[in-house]
Amino acid sequence: MIDKYTPEDFGNVVVLMGGNSAEREISLVTGNNILNALKRNNINAVGLDVQDDVAEKLLQLKPDRAFIALHGPGGEDGSIQGLLNYLKIPYTGSDVAACAVTLEKTYSKLIWEVLGIPTLPFRLVNDIEAAIDAMQYFGLPICVKPTNDGSSVGITKVTEPDQLPEAFKKAADYNKRVMIEPWIDGLEYTVGILGDTPLPVIEIRTPRTFYDFEAKYNEETTLYICPCELSAEKENELRYLALRAFQVLGCSGWGRVDLVANRAGDYFFLEVNTVPGMTDHSLVPKAADVMGINFDRLVLEILSYTLTSNVVVETNS
Ligand SMILES: Nc1ncnc2c1ncn2[C@@H]1O[C@H](COP(=O)(O)OP(=O)(O)O)[C@@H](O)[C@H]1O
Ligand SMILES: [Mg+2]
Repeated sequence: MIDKYTPEDFGNVVVLMGGNSAEREISLVTGNNILNALKRNNINAVGLDVQDDVAEKLLQLKPDRAFIALHGPGGEDGSIQGLLNYLKIPYTGSDVAACAVTLEKTYSKLIWEVLGIPTLPFRLVNDIEAAIDAMQYFGLPICVKPTNDGSSVGITKVTEPDQLPEAFKKAADYNKRVMIEPWIDGLEYTVGILGDTPLPVIEIRTPRTFYDFEAKYNEETTLYICPCELSAEKENELRYLALRAFQVLGCSGWGRVDLVANRAGDYFFLEVNTVPGMTDHSLVPKAADVMGINFDRLVLEILSYTLTSNVVVETNS
């Protein structure tokens, strides 16, 4: 699909990266990888570290389109997408509404629940009393996590009642909204989405308690199994279920859907990332590679949807 475009078709591209979320450092790596790939594709691209003056900077730069490489609140929650809409700059990935819904895990889960996409039951807990109540309701182990942010920050697997106060505090320190859901001991998968295509399923295996920050970015012991060990039929089923989980939230362009499976093989969707990492350890590039799509092509493919998407609000001016 991208073969029909020339570098000139893309005009001047700004790669938005950095920002002020807990995932700033990861975003800078993601953004620079993307910027370098665009340059290797002969596209006129510059990077912009997103700070309070982002609107002024964009007005000066006047880019033809933006590649959003920001993770977490501010970049993945609809904020930057809203600003770009106002400035009439087309951008990669999902629109305002889809970003807002996916960054707040509980909103995604409510939509999935209603539409029959498998996800774990959850409770929003405002204080430690509510957390204790949820622990008694679900039974141990449970997962205590902030309802937004990413990179596993603030998440604890609670196996003993006396771990709960610290787990609650840790999650609440990241975000006022804290959720609790049952903990699934079993397998973990992630499915990248490129346009309307679900990429091959990746199984994630770590010797750590779970796929935490260390396992994601610093550990060499994490295994990414792709092609995964599901039968071709099962894998195909999961790919298209993940695509549906992505699309019912209104997501588009690209993204990654995280899920766990219990020992019986039942799937439970955890969340959608509308701006997945593009670091050397990242998963969308790994899955794309298995399909024969290298990093540079992947970046171009994601950017190419900005040529056809109509997310920019048209006015009569
Ligand atoms: N309910 C759960 N059961 C088992 N593991 C979980 C559960 N929730 C989260 N995890 C583990 O924590 C990791 C991060 O959780 P996730 O909801 O995807 O948040 P993040 O936005 O931080 O990636 C997952 O990749 C998984 O390893
Ligand atoms: Mg995740």
